[in-house]
Amino acid sequence: MEIIIQPDGEQASQLAARIVARTVREKPHAVLGFATGNTPLPLYRSLVRMHREEGLDFSGLTSFNLDEYVGIPPAHPSSFHSYMWAHIFSNINLPRERINIPDGLAADIPASCRKYEQAIRSAGGIDIQILGIGTNGHIGFNEPSSSLSSRTRIKTLTEETRREAAAAFGGEDDVPTHVITMGLGTIMESRMCLLLAFGRRKARAVASAAEGPVTAMVPGSVLQMHPRAILVIDREAAAELTMADYYLWVSEHKPDWQKY
Ligand code: PGA
Repeated sequence: MEIIIQPDGEQASQLAARIVARTVREKPHAVLGFATGNTPLPLYRSLVRMHREEGLDFSGLTSFNLDEYVGIPPAHPSSFHSYMWAHIFSNINLPRERINIPDGLAADIPASCRKYEQAIRSAGGIDIQILGIGTNGHIGFNEPSSSLSSRTRIKTLTEETRREAAAAFGGEDDVPTHVITMGLGTIMESRMCLLLAFGRRKARAVASAAEGPVTAMVPGSVLQMHPRAILVIDREAAAELTMADYYLWVSEHKPDWQKY
């Protein structure tokens, strides 16, 4: 696991954007895994800017989103479909027919989850999976106690996660109870996992995921088993890391060929 600590979320997001952009340039048919939430917003702004100003070309790419609420139509303002179109898809040239987001309205959810897994495989697997982390350690919507080898499936949200989403739905009672999420096993098959976390409120989850034991109680900790997991975090999110000084030293002393 590589842990990169940046002074603030903006600089961390710009660094993450450079990592994504490098893959997009080197592999025009790359497959990107997208996340939603507040955390990736500055990363998406950077990618949109690179598309507009530097001609970063998404036209050959395929994308898969991590998750979606069950029972929420794509056009609902708080669906992850709406989020993705508002924050990135409307502003880059990724072809609509190669955008994949779990279908929260599927009549047969297990079958649609199997199809989603199959679609990821048919696309050649995910090159970079962008991830946030919940205050409870979840990645995607794999809540604590999720199997470390889980696949795309329906999950029940914890109360903590529903509370976090309350504002988007105008109150906790209106937050859906169920979601479809890529599993931890699905995420682990991505060639690179790029996890972003900003702010003091994420510090405990970041420290548990990066330095704690690998446990289903902290789903993000499974990334310790990933051969290419990069955590890009700000100083506040790094506040509880016991080896923060070491991670900073490593970043500051990278040879040029190793820099992002
Ligand atoms: P956030 O959510 O980016 O809105 O903090 C992250 C998550 O819950 O995965």
